[in-house]
Amino acid sequence: MEPNTKMGSNKTGIDMSPILSKEMIEGSKKLKLDGADGYTNLTLLEQFYLDNDDPLGSVPMPGTVKGVVKSATKMLTGHHPEVFLNKLGERLAFERSGVRIYEQLILKCEHMAANSMDGLKLPLEKLQEFHDQEAEHFYLLVECMETLGGDLTAQTPDADASGVAASGLMKVIMDPRTSVSQSLEAMLSIELTDNAAWELLIKLAEDMGLSDMADKFRHALQQENVHLETVKQWYEESVREQGIMRLS
Ligand SMILES: [Fe+2]
Repeated sequence: MEPNTKMGSNKTGIDMSPILSKEMIEGSKKLKLDGADGYTNLTLLEQFYLDNDDPLGSVPMPGTVKGVVKSATKMLTGHHPEVFLNKLGERLAFERSGVRIYEQLILKCEHMAANSMDGLKLPLEKLQEFHDQEAEHFYLLVECMETLGGDLTAQTPDADASGVAASGLMKVIMDPRTSVSQSLEAMLSIELTDNAAWELLIKLAEDMGLSDMADKFRHALQQENVHLETVKQWYEESVREQGIMRLS
């Protein structure tokens, strides 16, 4: 069984302190949530920021217009290419993070094996294969961005939002204290998002008339489907294995 699942003392729940927890519950009932107690001020503060909201940024215009780009942009006439560039930039950043995530998981598994720790043993060669495919997807997106004349280093608004959303999941995987099973749960969320995002990117490329790109994205999606199914299976095995061991 993984160390994170073993029984230990209660350090976070209220059951360890029945007297103080009773006081805390009584105190919370006395707390007024309106009037001049700070709550109203907080609401006003939130309203202020909502009223004065700025967007996360803007999609950088392509800086270069080459021959290929000209034909591509011709096809984009009547559309909003910035929507596609925004999502392309998001996927590019996400796949780059995907490479780092698999690197961390490989490190975690190697450490587990080197120290004979309990837990599901993941096949390192499969993890390496997924890692390499994430890198392959990153370079595919680099190629597409270059074709459209986009700036590879620019962070698009949706890349920003998606990066913030994924940051918690990445922290789980990067944390040396988390188990392989806990990391796999975070990986599952990442791969689910990744899958849906590639499906959308294919549709956007088709909408833009970029069928060659859409075909390349379909190949990436096929690989992502395998990542998703495999990670889901590993995660389920890692949890169920612990449950079975506990009963024996
Ligand atoms: Fe993936």
